[in-house]
Amino acid sequence: MTEPQPDRIKPWSRVRQLLRNPISLAGVALALVSLANILFLFVIDLVEARPTPYIGILAYMVGPAFFILGLALVPLGIWYDRRKRRGQQAGEATRYLRIDFSDPSHRGALSFFLTFLVVFILMSVVGSYRAYEFTDSVQFCGQLCHSVMNPEFTAYQHSPHARVACVECHVGAGATWYVKSKLSGARQVFATTFNTYPRPIPTPVHNLRPAQETCEECHWPARFYGAQLKVFTHYASDEKNTPRQIRMLIRVGGGDPATGAPEGIHWHMNIANEITYVAADEQHQVIPYIHVKDMQGRVTEYYASDSKLSKEEAAKAPRRRMDCVDCHNRPTHIYTPPDLAVDQSLLARRMDSSLPFLKQQAVSALTGKYDSTPQAMQGIAKEMHEFYESKYPELSKSKELEIRNAIDEVQKIYARTIFPEMKLNWQTHPNNVGHFYFNGCFRCHDGQHVSTDGKTLSKDCDTCHTVLSQSEGATKLVSAEGAKFQHPVDLGDLTQVNCSDCHTGGVGP
Ligand code: HEC
Ligand code: HEC
Ligand code: HEC
Ligand code: HEC
Ligand code: HEC
Ligand code: HEC
Repeated sequence: MTEPQPDRIKPWSRVRQLLRNPISLAGVALALVSLANILFLFVIDLVEARPTPYIGILAYMVGPAFFILGLALVPLGIWYDRRKRRGQQAGEATRYLRIDFSDPSHRGALSFFLTFLVVFILMSVVGSYRAYEFTDSVQFCGQLCHSVMNPEFTAYQHSPHARVACVECHVGAGATWYVKSKLSGARQVFATTFNTYPRPIPTPVHNLRPAQETCEECHWPARFYGAQLKVFTHYASDEKNTPRQIRMLIRVGGGDPATGAPEGIHWHMNIANEITYVAADEQHQVIPYIHVKDMQGRVTEYYASDSKLSKEEAAKAPRRRMDCVDCHNRPTHIYTPPDLAVDQSLLARRMDSSLPFLKQQAVSALTGKYDSTPQAMQGIAKEMHEFYESKYPELSKSKELEIRNAIDEVQKIYARTIFPEMKLNWQTHPNNVGHFYFNGCFRCHDGQHVSTDGKTLSKDCDTCHTVLSQSEGATKLVSAEGAKFQHPVDLGDLTQVNCSDCHTGGVGP
């Protein structure tokens, strides 16, 4: 065993000597402080039942960034210090750190260093896994960018997919889309920080992952067959809020030729069919050209007779392959039109339908012009109170509680469906399933799209559903399966009108 020689400096004091420069010292301090913070936040995140999303971003993103910065400053300081000294005392031999395994103090320092390294690597692995999990959480997506995503997040919480994580639809499985989404996410964080994001966030989403890899992970197209009963309940804008009910069989079949005849709504999604189309507007509401390639490979092209798009332009224009999201574009961010939202509240008895003109008043209050949500809350209360006080003074006393509850409910509807701060409501985000408030199916099935061989995409009322019965108040209007739908106001041939021209979802029928 060799004794340590007097002129050799022990590693610890050597390290101390190396660190004796302001940059490295600051780096060590920064690293220690951030490490303590990370540990502290990590414990809070583990212990707390519902930690706020900010803890995650501090513990797994900001903290480690400062920690790494601190560590990086240490060698930088040493390097800078050496350069400076070398200039000052040229000629003095530079001393390097030497490790001598036979020296117990060297071995001690080395094993301390290695243990520290292993612990640090383990911690950073756990940390980055937590960071990965965290950036995929609903909190991260929906709450962190609170004001920006508030409409999407609020609507989501009241939708059939409230228990499906944002990433199941927006990212899906696998690494490529994770990286893609985080890259575009970084841009969005930038836009949020500098307040340059568009209001509302535009729709459609251009880089949405194909539905085959998201929706179809849970909804198996081969399961679509037969028909489903759906009951539509509306309330008239009259004094009695007369209920109107339509029971219909919606033909949702067609997903797979093995489970049923190739007909029905999900026929579009039949795995062997390929429908592509050209849209004339950003939101795909006007569709001048459709291209169908069926199972046998036959091609049919439809041109809208009211469009000026030529064959050459159609061939050059960008096309979109139809998938789930072309109809179900609002599977979870559903901005219910006031007319429908009030109908739903009346049906669920969250409002007293014996209050005269409640339907009309509620829809009118919801469609008022407001600059902010607090202003809307006041406006709704004022308009509805004033109506009952001036038109029904006695009732406004005897049914004070019911009126207050109704106002409360209308305010809640507003808060979850209309977002003036983000300039967003049901009109900015049309829902393409159906044809009542929005053009939806009638974008193509309008009797105007004619194929080159003379076929027309029919608007025939029995193509997609069958009326089973229809009633207004206590009167049955239709009670035979397959009978024609009776419109409350005579409009003549219904295939010649566009429902959404009058049924705007706001004030009106
Ligand atoms: C069931 C699937 C699904 C889930 C779950 C989901 N989204 Fe979406 N989201 C969509 C679809 C589909 C679109 C776009 C439709 C289109 O392109 O027209 C969309 C669009 C958006 C948009 C663009 C604006 C708009 O409304 O079109 C934002 C922002 C958004 N989602 C955020 C979120 C956040 C935040 C969450 C979680 C809180 C979430 N999404 C959960 C399916 C989903
Ligand atoms: C992680 C699984 C999952 C994914 C991914 C998913 N969904 Fe769903 N979806 C569900 C569940 C569960 C329900 C049923 C909710 C219920 O009945 O309470 C549902 C319900 C629905 C419904 C019926 C809604 C209603 O009003 O009853 C539609 C339509 C739908 N999903 C479409 C889509 C579309 C389109 C996508 C892709 C953008 C998608 N889903 C992605 C799980 C999923
Ligand atoms: C041509 C438009 C269209 C396309 C494309 C489409 N759907 Fe539908 N889907 C509908 C309509 C219309 C209904 C009936 C909705 C209703 O009446 O509430 C429906 C109903 C559903 C339902 C609920 C009923 C059921 O049978 O469980 C689910 C889930 C669903 N679709 C998922 C999907 C998925 C997943 C895709 C993509 C593979 C898809 N849809 C493609 C129009 C479409
Ligand atoms: C992008 C244009 C487009 C949109 C939007 C669209 N369809 Fe279609 N649909 C077609 C085409 C094209 C056909 C095929 C017609 C043919 O060549 O036989 C078709 C056929 C159908 C069929 C008949 C299948 C059969 O042969 O029995 C049904 C039912 C149907 N669509 C329902 C709907 C419903 C419901 C919606 C709205 C939720 C809708 N479609 C939206 C283009 C569209
Ligand atoms: C291309 C398919 C298609 C055609 C053609 C079609 N419908 Fe519909 N219709 C639908 C779908 C899909 C829904 C269900 C929408 C939903 O679930 O919200 C619907 C819903 C309705 C409703 C209930 C609306 C509500 O919200 O109360 C009525 C009424 C109706 N259709 C009448 C008609 C009449 C009348 C015609 C003929 C002019 C017609 N439909 C043609 C697909 C079609
Ligand atoms: C010219 C305008 C106009 C057009 C177009 C129109 N409607 Fe209506 N609709 C009305 C009026 C007015 C009422 C009665 C409103 C009331 O009494 O409160 C009404 C009522 C209804 C109702 C009863 C529920 C309610 O909201 O009171 C249904 C269902 C309906 N229409 C379906 C349709 C369908 C489906 C189409 C398209 C095929 C259509 N309408 C096209 C004007 C129109």
